[in-house]
Amino acid sequence: MKKIILTGDRPTGRLHLGHFVGSLRRRVELQNSGEFDKIFIMIADAQALTDNADNPEKVRQNIIEVALDYLSCGIDPARSTIFVQSYVTELCELAFYYMNLVTVARLQRNPTVKTEIKMRGFSEEVADGDTTQRKGIPVGFFTYPISQASDITAFKATTVPVGEDQEPMIEQTREIVHKFNSVYGQTLVEPQILLPENRACLRLPGTDGKAKMSKSLGNCIYLSDTEKEVKQKVMGMYTDPNHLRIEDPGQVEGNCVFTYLDAFCRPEHFEKYLPEYESLDAMKEHYRRGGLGDVKCKKLLIAILNEMLEPIRERRKYWEQNIEQVYRILEEGSKTARAAAAETLNDVRNAMKINYFDDRELIAAQAEQYKQQSK
Ligand code: TRP
Repeated sequence: MKKIILTGDRPTGRLHLGHFVGSLRRRVELQNSGEFDKIFIMIADAQALTDNADNPEKVRQNIIEVALDYLSCGIDPARSTIFVQSYVTELCELAFYYMNLVTVARLQRNPTVKTEIKMRGFSEEVADGDTTQRKGIPVGFFTYPISQASDITAFKATTVPVGEDQEPMIEQTREIVHKFNSVYGQTLVEPQILLPENRACLRLPGTDGKAKMSKSLGNCIYLSDTEKEVKQKVMGMYTDPNHLRIEDPGQVEGNCVFTYLDAFCRPEHFEKYLPEYESLDAMKEHYRRGGLGDVKCKKLLIAILNEMLEPIRERRKYWEQNIEQVYRILEEGSKTARAAAAETLNDVRNAMKINYFDDRELIAAQAEQYKQQSK
């Protein structure tokens, strides 16, 4: 069986370090490994609209930002197909058929949907004259896990490299695949999720120590941040609030600087930037004992991040001067993606036997039946 990757991001802002360690870095490695027959990377504009119905312009403006981030990170349009979701209209048709295979109760149990309903305030009450009303959950939003199952299955993806928050979506996709194949016969491919190996990368906290890097919390370091911005953000980062004086023993767990070092630091960084420690473990040990200041740890992190981001910034500068070319890449990619999705849709229509006009047998049998009746 062919090995195929499908993954993507919502274009609601520039991509940050959370995206990078959660999935983006891995995609580039997988692309360069040459192990995959096809790689599709999708800018999920239609999905972004499911919870940005009041701000479509944000989505429109950010398609290019996400594309620039992809290209800057080393996604190579010659080896990976970068495309825009809404151009692949076949995805809507697939989703429409899959909707019959999923219950409302099952969608309500999807943990990511549940969290997002709270986060987006869809379940909040709003004053409406003398009464209060719920803001309500948009139907499109509620059903987006089904649309995501279309995204994945349309490309016969075997592998979906994503962050941990996407696990319920892949699970739901697998259920839809099972259900479809059991009703209509073996047609769709069951995808596997590919999560980051390192725990720190599973859910990179924001610079404020809060659960997750998220634009709305203003706790992100963006891939496109300048050297100066990275420095400022790391210097202001949450550490151990009880580690007041350098001599005090410090805590490494829940200390953002160390979580980031877990995610980004490699052994050779010590040789280069802090030869007095042989490894991150040795450095953590010193911090725990006391005698190691936050600033020194932060300076190491700044050096590591800037070293990593420098080539990304350089490539971004190039692509920023070639915006028209980037749009052409997206347009070409969308055509390629559309052709692939159309093949699957054809398989699906055949399996469902809704390809009536090609079904000579159906037409002949019914014709025969009526001839017999009229005799
Ligand atoms: N839900 C993903 C996100 O919020 C974006 C996405 C849409 C996606 N369709 C997908 C990811 C299919 C992987 C596979 O970032």
